[in-house]
This record gives sequence, structure tokens and C-alpha cells, in this order.
Amino acid sequence: MTSSIQKAQKDYSAKWREMSQSRHFPIFHYVPGNWINDPKLFYWQGEYHIFFQHNPNGSFWGTMHWGHTKSRDLVHWEPLPIALTPTPNSCDEDGCFTGDVIEENGRFHILYTSIKDKGEFIQTQSLASSHDLIHWDKSKANPLTIEHPEGYGGCWRDPCVWKEGDDWLMAIGGEKIEEQGGVVFLYSSQDLTNWRYRGELCEGSAEDVKAISETALGAKWYECPDFFPLDGKHVLLTTHAPHTFWQVGKYDNHQFVKEQLGTMDGGGFCSAKTLLDDQGRRIAWGFIWPEWGFIFEQGLKQEEYGFSGVLSLPRKLSVLPDGALGIEPVEELKSLRGEHKHFQNLSVDAQENIERLLLEGITGDALELLIEFEPCGAEVFGVSVRCSREFEEVLDIGFDSQTQKLVDAPLKLNAGEALKLRVYVDHSVIEVFANGRACQTLLTYPEREDAQHIALFAKGGQVKIKSLEVWEMKGIGVTKQG
Ligand code: FRU
Repeated sequence: MTSSIQKAQKDYSAKWREMSQSRHFPIFHYVPGNWINDPKLFYWQGEYHIFFQHNPNGSFWGTMHWGHTKSRDLVHWEPLPIALTPTPNSCDEDGCFTGDVIEENGRFHILYTSIKDKGEFIQTQSLASSHDLIHWDKSKANPLTIEHPEGYGGCWRDPCVWKEGDDWLMAIGGEKIEEQGGVVFLYSSQDLTNWRYRGELCEGSAEDVKAISETALGAKWYECPDFFPLDGKHVLLTTHAPHTFWQVGKYDNHQFVKEQLGTMDGGGFCSAKTLLDDQGRRIAWGFIWPEWGFIFEQGLKQEEYGFSGVLSLPRKLSVLPDGALGIEPVEELKSLRGEHKHFQNLSVDAQENIERLLLEGITGDALELLIEFEPCGAEVFGVSVRCSREFEEVLDIGFDSQTQKLVDAPLKLNAGEALKLRVYVDHSVIEVFANGRACQTLLTYPEREDAQHIALFAKGGQVKIKSLEVWEMKGIGVTKQG
């Protein structure tokens, strides 16, 4: 092991010991410490690499570096040295923004957006290369000569790169003028340095963004595009902080035409990107926005504990028979399951007021729940987690039959379709997966020590619960590999 890797691991162990003092610290999510946003993913010879936007100098956004970690089992993460650092007096002196990692003939390359002059926010695109994914050399040709076409707005960042025939293709996120919506620019190259503008890969509309989410910022642009084939279709992911949206459609002749559009998560699951592993799985990660409701306050609660932002659990994507995006947690997470309990045939009956049924015999702040509700007429029903015994504190994960939303995530249940929830409770971080096609991420910071209970709830009718499985979840520790 080289000394830079040893140092990164030693530094991380010290940081982890400090962060894990907090009772809100998640134990089976990877938390790099200080600030994280935008993961960038790369699969190589059995290892899942995650690079990410990182400020090593504090738990707030600023001086964007590329942090790095990797895993063999999708569960345990090994911290690695910082991959990219801004170079003083250069085109990236104010930040190495998001981009992509690729391999060609045994050499690895990063294409990223270089930022100079915080005031003017000058965006250019740059290249760095490596023989081992650890040591990166920036190209002397930086910033690369790439056309930002005229007649568009200022956003021009976050390259996504793939091979098509003999060409490298690169998508860059942008915006139309007068806040009319996002656009993705397409470029091609033979050598990764000289790029030719090929036109728009696709354009979006600000109305589309607003129709899906009232909480999305940046309806006018497309950040962090990720573009890939999946199950006979093509998928485009774009980010509108704090959410990522998906579009499933057709790609032909360098044009992408969307057929369906949706959100990857109703909560602060942001900047999702994907990789393809050797089992042919398309796996996505996003970062979980620190207290995303207070975007401009940078996550004050987390900051107090030495971190802001968390890497999400890995989510396997598919295109469903109806053409929408399917999203499931990866199987590997089952390896973290510990003690198990099973419940069946429960029911909660409620009228005007909410009724809750506390599950006796289950407590914990690191749990996985698998719940199947029977189709029912209750107005709202679901599960409450991190509850205190008398419900002074609760976090409700409710499905609203009228609006057909699971918290803020749209979920249209078909006639007679049961709601099936898989809920990961990891201290302050909660990730919910529903019916293979909707997700909701939540953060919670209960004050009471007894906020360790689980309850089922209903309002305006009765709900029956066919089955409920609970597992205690193990922590992933500091640097262990599976
Ligand atoms: C999206 C984003 C990207 C940019 C990066 C900077 O979250 O704004 O467009 O590259 O964050 O950290």
C-alpha cells in the first residue's frame, strides 16, 4: 500500500472516530466527513469507485476537490487519497467541479468542469489522467478548447462521457436563455482533448421540472447529466437541487427524445450518477443533501458533527414494462442484516384523527423494515420511525391516497395494488423504497433518547398490514472491505 493511501486511511479513521461520537451519525451509510456533493462513479475490475465533490477544509460547500473511495462489496468503503485538487493560478483554481471517469487502453481519464474566478464563475472543461486511479496528472492542454455554443444561458458544466463506435461522446449540462429550461450539449472526440460540437442531445422545459417538484431549484438548467442505455431504452438523469429527475426515451442519430419523466426521489437525494458493473447492473448513487430544506444554511445540524452530506445507499435501476424507471436497493445490503422479527395481520383503524399502533419488542436506530400493507380506503397510512414511546417525537412515512404521494414522492398505485415499503433507518438518515419505483429520503434529528420505536398509523379509515419484517442493521465500521 502506498503511503498516500495509508495516510488517507489514517486521517479518515481519526475523522470517523470524531464524527461517530454523535448519536445522529449514520452507521451503514458512507460518510466521507467535511463536505460532500455529487458522486461520480466508475467500475473497474471488481471494484466500485466513487469520486465526489469534496471540501476537505470544513463541513460547508467550497474549494471543490474530488474525494475518492472504493468498495468491493457495495457495503464497506475504503477511503482513498483526494484525486483532484484545485491548482493555484490555473483554470481550476476555484474548483474542480463535477465530471466523469473513463478508461482507454489501461489508462484512466477524468473530464471535469474547471472553475476560475468565483465572482465571474468562469466554467471551462478540463482533462486529468492516471495509470492507477490514485495519482492524477492534469493535461497541459487545460482548459480544453471546447465550444460553448452561442444563444444559451451561462450554465455549462458536468461532462458525462461514453464511447460510441470509434468516437468518444460527451454530454454537458446547460440552460436555454430566459429560464426556459435545461439543455444537454453533445460533443465528439477521437483523443479526449479535441472536441467537436455536435448539437443538442436534447432540451428540457422549466414547466416539466416544476410539474414534478415544487421544491426543485434550478428548473431552468440541467446539471450533472448522466446518459446511458438500459433495457432497450435510453435514460437521462439530470439534477435540479436537491432532486434528480429521470427521463426514459429513445436515442437515435445523436438525439434523445423523452417518453416518460419522473423524479428519482421525493427528498434530498441529489446529483445521481450511475455505473455498469460486471453483472450488467446499472447502479445509481446520489448524495443525501444535509438538511436540504434549509439549503442555504448548509446543513447546520450535521455541520456540528463534522460532516455535511452522506453518500446514499446503492440503487439498482431498470426500465419497467410500462416504460417508467424502476429503482430498488441492491441485494448486497442484505449482508448487513442482523436479528430479525416478523409480524403479520395487524390493523389500525382511524377516523378524523391519526391512530398509531406501537410495535412492541422492536427498538433501534439502525433497522431495515419490509412492510406490506393491504390495499385500503384510509386517507393516509404508513409507518412512523424514530418514535418516542408516547409519540412526542415521530417521523411519519405516509402514503396519501388522494394525492397518490408517498411523503413527497409521486406513486400512483394501480387498482388493487398493495403498498410495499422497504425502509432503511440509519440514525438521522432514512431511505424509503416503495413498490420498486418510488423513493423518499428523509433526515431526522430526534431529541429524545427513547425515539427508537416503530409504529404503524392510519388516518381517515382502516389499514391492514399483511406482514412486517424487521432486521437490526450492522454498521460498516471505518475501512473494512467485504
Ligand atoms: C450540482 C453542482 C454541479 C457542480 C457541482 C459543484 O450539485 O452544482 O453542477 O459541478 O455541484 O460542486
